[in-house]
Amino acid sequence: CGIVGYIGELDAKEILLKGLEKLEYRGYDSAGIAVRNDEGITVFKEKGRIADLRSAVDNEVKAPVGIGHTRWATHGVPNRLNAHPHQSASGRFTLVHNGVIENYHLLQKAYLKGIQVASDTDTEIIVQLVDLFVSEGLTTEEAFRKTLSLLHGSYALALLDSEAADIIYVAKNKSPLLVGVADDFNVIASDAMAMLQVTNQFVELHDKEVVLVRKNGVTITNLEGTVIERAPYTAELDASDIEKGTYPHYMLKEMDEQPAVMRKIIQAYANEAGELEIEADILEALQQADRLYIIAAGTSYHAGLVGKQYFEKIAQIPVEVHISSEFGYNMPLLSEKPLFIFISQSGETADSRQVLVKIKEMGHKALTVTNVAGSTLSRESDYTLLLHAGPEIAVASTKAYVAQIAVLAVAAYVTAQAKGIAVDFDLKQELAIVANNIQAVIERKADLEQIAEDFLKIARNAFFIGRNVDFYVSLEGALKLKEISYIQAEGFAGGELKHGTIALIEEGTPVFALVSQKDVALNIRGNVKEVTARGANACIISMEGMAEDDDTFILPATHPLLTPLVTVVPLQLISYYAALHRRCDVDKPRNLAKSVTVE
Ligand code: G6P
Repeated sequence: CGIVGYIGELDAKEILLKGLEKLEYRGYDSAGIAVRNDEGITVFKEKGRIADLRSAVDNEVKAPVGIGHTRWATHGVPNRLNAHPHQSASGRFTLVHNGVIENYHLLQKAYLKGIQVASDTDTEIIVQLVDLFVSEGLTTEEAFRKTLSLLHGSYALALLDSEAADIIYVAKNKSPLLVGVADDFNVIASDAMAMLQVTNQFVELHDKEVVLVRKNGVTITNLEGTVIERAPYTAELDASDIEKGTYPHYMLKEMDEQPAVMRKIIQAYANEAGELEIEADILEALQQADRLYIIAAGTSYHAGLVGKQYFEKIAQIPVEVHISSEFGYNMPLLSEKPLFIFISQSGETADSRQVLVKIKEMGHKALTVTNVAGSTLSRESDYTLLLHAGPEIAVASTKAYVAQIAVLAVAAYVTAQAKGIAVDFDLKQELAIVANNIQAVIERKADLEQIAEDFLKIARNAFFIGRNVDFYVSLEGALKLKEISYIQAEGFAGGELKHGTIALIEEGTPVFALVSQKDVALNIRGNVKEVTARGANACIISMEGMAEDDDTFILPATHPLLTPLVTVVPLQLISYYAALHRRCDVDKPRNLAKSVTVE
């Protein structure tokens, strides 16, 4: 889901549509634009892809102002009616919104009795409220402010008034939104990528700010109306980074980039003497913590599980890993000197941010590990470690996962060194080996495509098993397969199988077993025997040094702590080919969003 807007001299339509295309990767199920010219406001919206919206747009309508939206349904099914922009009953106001308004029913009851609402969305209530307050005598800006003061929840908003040609009213709370600035036009966008086509100068907006965007200027005010000066920053994104070039899918491109990402991380975290290093204040915070609390969602949570091993085994700091959305209700008893580590590719995940806000209120320190400099989590944390993975566009996260694990390894390693704990391996050298090993796996795509065909072509479900860190990678392998191929998949600790899941094994059920940990290799092979005895079709992915002749795919030898960086790669590629065989939309799987900015 995302928002774009343009106010200038050119025709807004094309800029908005291009911007929405750049936001496609975030996931959506309908889209729309509204443009304003001397004849008034015209809205085009459509269920489905931006391409569908494009064909619905009337090219004859030219307008220098407009707003656009991709919607990922929260309230109300994805259809044309519920797609944004939404208009007030009088037709005067038009609005796009990202986020969730929790009290919209209450507001509807309290203020909008007798007013016909057209859609099932919380958004429509906002635009109706603005219209109501204007009809009661307020100016548009006053009505907008009054409406905002009533809203509980998250929002990024852009509002057009058919009676004000030269202005877009903008506000945000908890949902991301930026203003892009230039000489004779200004834009708004949920992320910089959407508007890189026209500018690389962006101004950050903070929660509860109200912004008036005109062709020649941007006025940021707080809720009380005080004007806030804020200089733009340059988005350090290369437009070519966000193109897929000759690749059929972003996901394939991003998997292929993984060796380069490993090398980039080694480079980014090495000092002039060639030793791994992180900023002194982050190192100090890690050293002083008596316990780390890793908070993350989805793939980032899986990276956190691996990260826990590093901080505990290398740096000897106890770690708990929590799913962001659960932490608020189930907060553990905190240690005396906790340090919170937020892992988030996008830096925008609302579930994680909600925890950040809470723990900051409690006075704790936070470190964000993210791919996006300047993202909300990064800005609101005390410290940031960047992933240096380059923009990740495919919804299914691949290169960010390996980057997260590598950066956590670096942080744990340098913390151990700073604490004087003896570390018996050279992480830099081992990561360089990892980069080569990932490359070697990637070069065997044809074999992995064959495995996808042999094991998953007709599968209804699939299981992934492993022990120790292989278990965590099994969780990620199952998630990848679910996300993009829609095959029901589960990851398990090998030893847990017999306690329930083995009941699901039937003739031909695919079971992917990871064997990269010497101390448990025999045990996991024992688990494979248990499932094959019951008819499973086992795919054994093992590592040199513990491989056996009949294993399906053998990975190059990797340092035992770093195996997740390599074992995950065949699982990513197998999922990719399984999804292709099933003709799934690999980069934009159904129902999923790249960054989920609603709780
Ligand atoms: C979404 C994405 C996942 C991602 C998760 C966390 O659900 O589809 O791929 O792992 O959010 O995102 P983050 O940006 O916080 O890592």
